[in-house]
Amino acid sequence: MSISNEDLINAAMEARDNAYCHYSGYSVGAAIIDDKDRLHVGCNVENAAYNLGNCAEAAAIAAMVQEGGKRIARIAVAGGRSEPGPCTPCGGCRQRINEFGDKNTVVIVIDDSNEWQEYSIDALLPASFHLD
Ligand code: THU
Repeated sequence: MSISNEDLINAAMEARDNAYCHYSGYSVGAAIIDDKDRLHVGCNVENAAYNLGNCAEAAAIAAMVQEGGKRIARIAVAGGRSEPGPCTPCGGCRQRINEFGDKNTVVIVIDDSNEWQEYSIDALLPASFHLD
């Protein structure tokens, strides 16, 4: 494992610092390690037309795809209004992660005590929708 889960969380928190969350005040950062062990990050970007806002996970996934990454090995998410707290991915982002995940994909979030917690994407999105 090239980068520790703590460092991946730190990368998510650093990405979170760039969030544009003018409307909700809730900043989120996401950091992905892809199948080639490369790091990709993203933050949420909101818009005055609220429904045009993008989640941090979507931004990190777009960065991964653009750089040729095929699969998400691990993704860390950090979000909150002041200090980063628990931010388990929203339903839509679970589906997005699932698209590029597999049975080994790990989703890492920080918990209330600032420790990280990990889940499989299958635990977060059981019986998920796929097209073969
Ligand atoms: N948000 C994310 O970036 N990821 C999630 O998984 C949950 C929600 C963002 C969207 C919006 O900009 C803000 O958090 C409040 O919902």
